[in-house]
Amino acid sequence: IYEDSDAASLYVANEIAQLIRQRQKQGKKAVIGLATGSTPTKMYEYLVRFHREEDLSFKNVVTFNLDEYYPMQPDSIHSYVRFMNEHLFDHIDIPKKNIHIPDGTLEKEDVRDFCKAYEARIREVGGLDIQILGIGRTGHIGFNEPGSSLGSTTRMVRLDRVTRLDAASDFFGLENVPTKAITMGVGTILSARRVIMMAWGEGKSSIIKQAVEGKIRESVPATFLQQHPNCQVIADRAAASSLT
Ligand code: F6R
Repeated sequence: IYEDSDAASLYVANEIAQLIRQRQKQGKKAVIGLATGSTPTKMYEYLVRFHREEDLSFKNVVTFNLDEYYPMQPDSIHSYVRFMNEHLFDHIDIPKKNIHIPDGTLEKEDVRDFCKAYEARIREVGGLDIQILGIGRTGHIGFNEPGSSLGSTTRMVRLDRVTRLDAASDFFGLENVPTKAITMGVGTILSARRVIMMAWGEGKSSIIKQAVEGKIRESVPATFLQQHPNCQVIADRAAASSLT
């Protein structure tokens, strides 16, 4: 628990930087699972700052984003491709070929094969060293909404109404929010060697309490993280305020 989201974001950015440097020394790639949304933006600011001011190179980094709306064009202001470019990728030296984000432009009949290939690619590069997460008010991680199973893998999902309501203002109305997304599964997330879930603000306090202290259950997918051997929840005081 950190005093504020700024200090907490700095901690997470430092952990990622340390992983990247450690892998560099070993002559290996660092494989990092990334999230979008309002939660990780400060953490990305710190990573960009480390690149500019502290010579942190991302040449040996391979990334896999959790999710993307479906359908979604990459140049849309709502696209997670655009989000990642604006907040991180345009400002660092990561090779473009090392970036993976679920493709919102696919034809429906191609989604299944894409998802299989996404999972295969994660395995090919040696698995996720670390997965960064936010948490939705439904308890979703990635876009694994209530009802997602422990073993779920990358797939097309239907978004919960609460998630769509939370996105409505960004999309200028609920009717414009996509009803579907492509997301890594709970199983994909749990396969990461380390998981860090971040949460800021009072609005997240009730779901953080359920995720951390509640019974493990499909209706709150974030509770599955309790079974992970190396998972940290990083919260500011407000998000942690309901914990006993
Ligand atoms: C985003 C993602 C989602 C968000 C969650 C919280 O890639 O997978 O699970 O982390 O919806 O969103 P914010 O951070 O906007 O509160």
